[in-house]
Amino acid sequence: MTELSLYLDQIKARLTLSEIVGQDRRLSRKGHEYIGLCPFHEEKTPSFKVNDQKGYYHCFGCGAHGDAFSYVMHRSNMQFMEAVKELADKTGVSLPDRSQQSYKEKNPRNQDLYALLEEACSWFQHVLTTSVGEDARDYLRHRGFIPDTVRQFRLGFASSQHNNSLYGLLVKKGFSKDLILSSGLIIVPEDQKREPYDRFRDRLMFPILDAKGRVIAFGGRLLREGQPKYLNSSDSELFHKGQVLYGYSFAQNHVSKDHPYLLVEGYCDVIALHQAGFKTAIAPLGTAVTAEQLHLLWRRSPEPILCFDGDEAGTRASFRTAQRALPFLATMRTLNFCFLPKGEDPDSLLRQGSPQLFRDILQKKIPLAEVLWKSHIENGAVVINATPEQKATLKKQLAETVAQITDNDIRYFYQTDFNERFRNLWYKSYTRADQPRKFQSGKFKDFRSKESESDSSQGNDFIKDGLLYKKSDLAQKILLAILVNHPTLVSEVAEQLAALEFNHGEWQKLKVFLLEYADDANDSFEDCLAQHGLLGILDNIFDRNLYNHAPYAAKQTDPRIALEGWLDIWDQTVHRARLKEDLESTYQDVKTSFNDKDWQRLKALKSNLFKQT
Ligand code: UTP
Ligand code: MN
Repeated sequence: MTELSLYLDQIKARLTLSEIVGQDRRLSRKGHEYIGLCPFHEEKTPSFKVNDQKGYYHCFGCGAHGDAFSYVMHRSNMQFMEAVKELADKTGVSLPDRSQQSYKEKNPRNQDLYALLEEACSWFQHVLTTSVGEDARDYLRHRGFIPDTVRQFRLGFASSQHNNSLYGLLVKKGFSKDLILSSGLIIVPEDQKREPYDRFRDRLMFPILDAKGRVIAFGGRLLREGQPKYLNSSDSELFHKGQVLYGYSFAQNHVSKDHPYLLVEGYCDVIALHQAGFKTAIAPLGTAVTAEQLHLLWRRSPEPILCFDGDEAGTRASFRTAQRALPFLATMRTLNFCFLPKGEDPDSLLRQGSPQLFRDILQKKIPLAEVLWKSHIENGAVVINATPEQKATLKKQLAETVAQITDNDIRYFYQTDFNERFRNLWYKSYTRADQPRKFQSGKFKDFRSKESESDSSQGNDFIKDGLLYKKSDLAQKILLAILVNHPTLVSEVAEQLAALEFNHGEWQKLKVFLLEYADDANDSFEDCLAQHGLLGILDNIFDRNLYNHAPYAAKQTDPRIALEGWLDIWDQTVHRARLKEDLESTYQDVKTSFNDKDWQRLKALKSNLFKQT
């Protein structure tokens, strides 16, 4: 993957997205953009927009969105690298292949550069042990880094004294001036008259190693307050910031499925974590996480954990990385996130507490989908009483996020996951305006067990859990029929389904059965029912009447449409009943103890109820 991002940029610079799309669809120019029929969904009027300057496409119909690479991946159902190769061929950019990679290593000049950097590293290590390194040694002791750790990470010190200069040393060792200046460690004054001088002066030195453990660059930290606190080598033939991870050469020997990579922000976080036994810790080099770094993280570690600093910048970096990962998600490629207490980073936490404290934090890792959801809710400051416009904005933003996922299955399940969260958000706020929505996983299970214990009641309108349900056989038949035909939807509506009570004991039995077995049913829930001798229940559900009223309940309907239909019916039967019940109890509140708040609530509920009629 080395140097890939450079090639990606080159490819993008040489291609015109509208020409690529133009091979599949006729586009017509509109201002500085192109518009045409969307290649990703059926449509009669064009809603697919291509912007060549920005290099992206967007469909207002289906929400597809991305750049040239995701376009080709999507259109031809390709992996990322396949798409890159196709576009590289088109634009005549030659990708680095293995032979070029080994050429790079065999290149004598690069061999010299490795030797030079190794020399520099040993020199900094040596200076740390001398009298000019005394402050730095104190500093390291203060931070709690033990000698073994200092040795392992080959920490050193760059002095500012002339007789300790690295430049002088390298010249004396016989490296050519040209090579020395290309190392990223030396600065050439602009006026060219003065001598070149050391980039790192009075800094604690952190060598940056490649995957094979060779020194390719350095990070340097000031011992006292000052700017910039950290400085890196400038990029060189051997070093490109976006392609390396600090600590990788050590961490790769410890990573496994149970011990995923732990991506943190700082060099000192990495070192402190390794010292405390978290030997898979690594860090980017002070820049945003790149696609290549993500791919490094996914080697042997399908679910690496991001654990950035507990401040605003750290949270923003987490959200940005979450977005960055979307085009590459696959079944064995996702991310988890930990969020640290305010003001803490992994290093500060370890200094305060035991490794156990940090282990507990890792236990509470949050999956990518939840983090993406959070990022939209927190960024948009969604209020409980959001306006229709705010809701629409959130919905669009979620759609744009989902559209960046290129794996079809994963995109579909993110879509349904977000749909459910979206509905729950507004649904909960409907009747309980004063309570913030909480996301509790495992809630569905509680419902299930409660339901299967209590035997069903039959008959008329009834109140359960304080809710009033309306009796309508037809609506209930439709609700059950959709789920029998589409058992995969049960997990989407489990909460709503569990809270429903059906008019007939048989149907109630079917409901419990759906909740218990739908997950295992795969395609045919009927087979599953038959095995348990329950097929007869379906007789009085599936009559001609049913499909006349609800054609979307059929098996061949797209599951997303069927789900919309289910929720619509559910909304009509139950949701309104809830509103009514709430109205009744608020009315009682107003009667017993009149106060303005209850009165306003009553008014709001009434208007909601009548709006829906
Ligand atoms: P931090 O300032 O969080 O690093 O920056 P840290 O490791 O917690 O710092 P100390 O030593 O404990 O105070 C995180 C990373 O961002 C980059 C460095 O890579 C650093 O490790 N950075 C930070 C810079 O490149 N330049 C800076 O001035 C600051
Ligand atoms: Mn930090």
